[in-house]
Amino acid sequence: MKTKVLSVDKMLGNEKKYKHAVDILKSGGLVAFPTETVYGLGALATDEQAVRKIFEAKGRPSDNPLIVHIGNPDLISLFATTISEHAERLIEAFWPGPLTVVLKKKPGIIAPSVTPGVETVGLRMPDHPVALELLKALNGPIAAPSANRSGKPSPTTAYHVADDLSGLIPLIMDGGQTGIGVESTVIDMTTTPPTILRPGGVTREMIESKIGPVTIANDNSDDQAPRAPGMKYMHYAPKAPLFVISSDIERLTEAVRTLQNEGKRVAVITPNELEVAIADWQFFVGHQLDKEAIAANLYGALRQCDLTEADTILAVETDLDGVGTAIMNRLMKAADGQRYSQ
Ligand code: TXA
Ligand code: MG
Repeated sequence: MKTKVLSVDKMLGNEKKYKHAVDILKSGGLVAFPTETVYGLGALATDEQAVRKIFEAKGRPSDNPLIVHIGNPDLISLFATTISEHAERLIEAFWPGPLTVVLKKKPGIIAPSVTPGVETVGLRMPDHPVALELLKALNGPIAAPSANRSGKPSPTTAYHVADDLSGLIPLIMDGGQTGIGVESTVIDMTTTPPTILRPGGVTREMIESKIGPVTIANDNSDDQAPRAPGMKYMHYAPKAPLFVISSDIERLTEAVRTLQNEGKRVAVITPNELEVAIADWQFFVGHQLDKEAIAANLYGALRQCDLTEADTILAVETDLDGVGTAIMNRLMKAADGQRYSQ
């Protein structure tokens, strides 16, 4: 299959491109498109055959549910039964935006493969002009996980999508680099109190300011059935082992020197302020205090590391304020939980 890439960066004069995308979706095909978090790989969420193609193209285990994207909060009641007052408050406050709410699903509407083995559905209204325009033109729900091959970081540019899925899908809508860079917050509203299954752009503090205390799922519990099935799957880890390290230039330089003395070549992922002159490769992700920039550039940097010959990667930690929780969640997964210690 030849993959077409259509630029939709400028908002005017794109009607034909959206029509092309809608034709593909309506005839059971897949379209990759930008959201404000990462690129998604979309299928019409009510079309079982189309949804199955997502799992095939991604090489994703088929018991991991997909997020359903909708273009308007009023459509929720078409897909979910019980919408609590708290859920309504979150939707009112954060949609469109990087928040996926897990609600009890209405049976028989969404294709079974979207929500395998669960009675719930994860819904979100993305805050990106291309995603919203596509949803409007389609006038239907789009099931979309991140548009990467399973085991790679989520794509934040159309190039990342093409790297992973060229030849496997008919169309990539190129809307430039995504703004947030880490996936949406997923919150299960069917528990009391609600449970954050995945930290993201809408932080715990933001959520609690609207609905009071929530819990955070502990995602290293291998022994029990995870509420977010995504949690039990291998997360992206770069080819070379990655270690998280504190934000201290002397410690970082010392660590690089020690590793190099062991014959290793070292890539470092750091904030802009920490220049490590002796590192074999260095990827800057943004100013230390600008965690939005760090989140936006993190996955790109991880992909860059895989293009180097590095034997070890050191990534500088952030604090947990704001989107820092989501950054550290993804970094610790990429590090398989390991911090650099020596
Ligand atoms: O930002 C995002 O959420 C991106 C963009 C494309 O919207 N999408 C995304 O999808 O990250 P995906 O499939 O890569 O991650 C969805 C996560 C998975 O961890 C999945 O297990 C969880 O959401 N999830 C989806 N539906 C669920 C449900 N009904 N119950 C529990 N977890 C659910
Ligand atoms: Mg994903």
